[in-house]
Amino acid sequence: MRSDLYDLLRQRRSTRAFTSAPVDRSTIARLCTAARRAPSGANLQPGKFHALAGNELDALSARLVAAAQSGMPTALEYSYFPERMSPTHKDRQRKAGFALYEALGISRRDIAGRRAQFDQNYRFFDAPVGIVVTIDRDMGKGCFMDLGMSIMALLLAAEAEGLGATGIGALANYGAITHDQLGLDENELVVCGIAIGHADPNSPVNQFRTERAALSEFASFRGFDD
Ligand SMILES: Cc1cc2nc3c(=O)[nH]c(=O)nc-3n(C[C@H](O)[C@H](O)[C@H](O)COP(=O)(O)O)c2cc1C
Repeated sequence: MRSDLYDLLRQRRSTRAFTSAPVDRSTIARLCTAARRAPSGANLQPGKFHALAGNELDALSARLVAAAQSGMPTALEYSYFPERMSPTHKDRQRKAGFALYEALGISRRDIAGRRAQFDQNYRFFDAPVGIVVTIDRDMGKGCFMDLGMSIMALLLAAEAEGLGATGIGALANYGAITHDQLGLDENELVVCGIAIGHADPNSPVNQFRTERAALSEFASFRGFDD
């Protein structure tokens, strides 16, 4: 079992192109149930998953894409990244971006190409299923951390099912549109989306892998005997 989990962690990567094969409701229900197994402070189990498929997903995507293409200003309702990125974080962000655009053959100067790829976020990368992740507005940072663990559990469960997935933080750029389209409770904040489906193995965008920092850069060990 131990090696299974490590294998899943190694295998998982963000999938940004999918086949047209559908994913049924019971599979998505299993993934959401797995996500809820995540631990959380005081077992508050913060956050909700709103799964969309078919016309419901198309309708939301259409509104988001229209907003992006009309140049509507984005309105983030919570801060995801630091206002000023440290050089280390900036470097990681750049590398991840370059890897993505290089895989797609989009050059650094191809602004239109980059925008078109960015709009794919709002199409949930044409996945058959999109999940809108929300959290109560009054929740603290710790609860966002808890929700992140749920999202990770969901991503790993998807991997275990042989499905591909990616988080879509860009969804929060137009949280109000998603809020309105889904008729969410007033107190629900749109945190991110998740695209889920069967990975298209031939799509260039699914070919690259992102790097990770070396252990010595992010972990320290004290008091061990070995
Ligand atoms: C919560 C969350 C939000 C994300 N938002 C986006 C996004 O808006 N667009 C995108 O292309 N990738 C998005 N990603 C994917 C990250 O870019 C990706 O996880 C990171 O570069 C590491 O690559 P890997 O997932 O392939 O290991 C998101 C991932 C997470 C966990």
